[in-house]
Amino acid sequence: MIEVKNLRKGFEGKAVLKGVDVTMQSGKCNLIIGSSGSGKTVFIKCMVGLFQPDSGQILYNGQDFTAMTVEQKKEVRKEIGMLFQGSALFSSMTVEDNIIFPLDMFTTMTRRQKLDRVNEVLDRVNLKGANKKFPAELSGGMMKRVGIARAIVLNPKYLFVDEPNSGLDPQTSGLIDKLIQEITLEYGITTVINTHDMNSVMEIGDHIVYMYQGEKEWEGNSKEIIFSKNQRLNEFIFASDFLRDAKDMRMLEETGKVSEDRNMQQLTGTNAPDLVPPPKENKA
Ligand SMILES: Nc1ncnc2c1ncn2[C@@H]1O[C@H](COP(=O)(O)OP(=O)(O)O)[C@@H](O)[C@H]1O
Ligand SMILES: [Mg+2]
Repeated sequence: MIEVKNLRKGFEGKAVLKGVDVTMQSGKCNLIIGSSGSGKTVFIKCMVGLFQPDSGQILYNGQDFTAMTVEQKKEVRKEIGMLFQGSALFSSMTVEDNIIFPLDMFTTMTRRQKLDRVNEVLDRVNLKGANKKFPAELSGGMMKRVGIARAIVLNPKYLFVDEPNSGLDPQTSGLIDKLIQEITLEYGITTVINTHDMNSVMEIGDHIVYMYQGEKEWEGNSKEIIFSKNQRLNEFIFASDFLRDAKDMRMLEETGKVSEDRNMQQLTGTNAPDLVPPPKENKA
């Protein structure tokens, strides 16, 4: 259980997070969406303790992380897995050594136990046998997989992922999203993902928080997003004509009608000549 209460963070007098309240849903993927510069990364960095907030609370199981001693924070950190933009793998280390790193930091496991655990997580992300490869030898999608393996190697209760799809093609993005979602459900992890990827929002949006200029502007799921009348959200999410049409089609499927401000005929193409089948010839 993670609860964020009235979280504020600024830099040199400029407010970035302006009092954010969010309760993350346990055992699910919680998506933080919003345009570039809206404060998503700062938010995640506050949650994992990389930034100290100016005020507000971040409660892990009811305990305020911001008020903890270094020792107490370390205990929470042990339960947190992180995957940051660019995967942040150590380029001079093999895949295996990258994944062993958190085990060396936080456990007293034997070398044999650590190697067994590495093989388990590599297998889980479908990279069996990649142990001795170096990051430079991997594709973008494989690097993300290694990043995920490293993030889950300590069996975290919480997983934080910043822009998992940056730099990936749409198909690979979808596979990475799916993997994160599967792992979240399989291990009952509470996952928080920053993204601006529309596909992710629709595919894994159990709980979506839309940030606008450092404030929570909207909250809901991928079904509710279709019906939302929040103008800022709609301008952000349904930024192209194509996506606006997709939204309306989805709405039409669900309710049999579209938004009042849209032209139904135009949308369904009933007056578009190309879509009307040619009249059958009568040969009788
Ligand atoms: N370490 C920092 N020092 C000063 N300003 C920062 C720092 N990190 C982020 N910011 C500012 O905070 C704002 C939000 O940034 P960020 O959280 O990275 O946005 P997002 O991840 O939503 O694109 C930006 O205006 C950015 O310049
Ligand atoms: Mg960011």
